[in-house]
Amino acid sequence: MIPRKTVAPEEIRRQLSICREILTSVNASAAHPLAMVDTYGCQQNEADSEKLRGYLAEMGYGFTQDEYEADIIVINTCAVREHAEMRVLGNVGALNHTKKAKPSQIIAVCGCMVQQEHMTEKIKKSYPIVDLVFGPHELWRFPELLQEVMLKHKRLFATEKSDGAVTEGIPLRRDGHVKAWLSIMYGCNNYCTYCIVPYVRGRERSRLPEAIVAEARELVEAGYKDITLLGQNVNSYGKNLSSGTDFADLIRMINDIPGDFLIRFMTSHPKDATEKLFRTMAECEKCAHQLHLPVQSGNDRVLKAMNRRYTAEKYLSVAALARRYMPDLVLTTDIIVGFPGETDEEFEDTLKLCEEVRFDAMFTFIYSKRVGTPAASMPDPFTREEKQRHFDRLTEVSNRISGEKHAEYIGTVQRVLVDGETGKDPYNLSARTNGGRLVHLKGDPSLIGRFCNVRITAGNTWALYGEL
Ligand code: 5AD
Ligand code: SF4
Repeated sequence: MIPRKTVAPEEIRRQLSICREILTSVNASAAHPLAMVDTYGCQQNEADSEKLRGYLAEMGYGFTQDEYEADIIVINTCAVREHAEMRVLGNVGALNHTKKAKPSQIIAVCGCMVQQEHMTEKIKKSYPIVDLVFGPHELWRFPELLQEVMLKHKRLFATEKSDGAVTEGIPLRRDGHVKAWLSIMYGCNNYCTYCIVPYVRGRERSRLPEAIVAEARELVEAGYKDITLLGQNVNSYGKNLSSGTDFADLIRMINDIPGDFLIRFMTSHPKDATEKLFRTMAECEKCAHQLHLPVQSGNDRVLKAMNRRYTAEKYLSVAALARRYMPDLVLTTDIIVGFPGETDEEFEDTLKLCEEVRFDAMFTFIYSKRVGTPAASMPDPFTREEKQRHFDRLTEVSNRISGEKHAEYIGTVQRVLVDGETGKDPYNLSARTNGGRLVHLKGDPSLIGRFCNVRITAGNTWALYGEL
């Protein structure tokens, strides 16, 4: 068993006392100090931003979306694909104007992108407006890093390599009051050959079940109705814990918390999905019948080159088993098109698998080369145009199947959780089915946060429409 590193509770208390020192000094110099936190990438990053906002709130900052108004800007970045990195760099570059207008503004860039050496170097050289850079492993000591920048007026880069630790007790400032993210583990040990995550987020490590259950209980007591358990690969939850609690056990523990709420989770790796998990999902009445199970490719050679450690056939049998336990399961997936060397025939296998599984929704990506990953040095003879052609065909199939799946809902009654306003007429409310499909409704905003029965009247590729 790998020892699980934890950040000592007194370390977090020290960070909180630094927050109070900042509060005193900031309040002395500005009437209403404001911060802006801009998040890119996955839900794990959203959850990290809630910690950044939690710390900033302790320091007395209010929040704004206006970069000209902000005294502090924190950009929480993603490294999974080049596109996200380009957007970040473009937006950081644009902050030249805001900093010119407000020279006291502090600009911080954190998250996965800056945990890569070449990116930190780029920011050091080409983006002098950035005052503070820190990787995911340093997030717990954001107050200390920020205070150092404030006191010394010098740029600070904190991006040392690390396997990562588990931290408890960082204050959280959550968005909304209906849906909540709950991180149950961090990092990844799988080393899929295209993926940068294991290099920037460190080794897989789980939070203790007691800490997770306590947080879930607080969420339920605060009125949250939809809790999404987060991890890069939740199916290997608990592998580094001595208690022997696995992911299915954890679901059961959360299901036992009294109250009317839903448990969702993401992401699952097909190689670790067990019958015990599906049985538990079926038996636990609060667990949504929703599974995000990335397949990435339908071709065995490509899957092997990706180091996914399952075959297309094995994936099909896992999906069938899940559906046997939950006939109403909403099954979604991720697919990468244009992995180095993927041929027309190999791509056809992916299409074939998609037609066979009939996913409720597919998240499709064109392969993006990541520095330092094994796939980056694999021969990649196909052009961007060829990959785009495959991508467009896959999108067509995905949209058609989602549309067909949604059409099957028409005329049925679904129990949905109303989660917000759309800002559009006449379908002014948005809601989610148990399986997580988006439903647009007409109704009073006082329904937000409530479970309702809805008759589905229409559907397209992206959403369902219904009446109370
Ligand atoms: N290129 C394209 N897509 C990627 N993903 C991960 N790494 C890459 C990459 N280098 C996709 C995978 C994963 C999702 C979160 O992002 O499909 O499941
Ligand atoms: Fe990346 Fe694979 Fe880990 Fe997912 S399971 S984060 S795709 S290495």
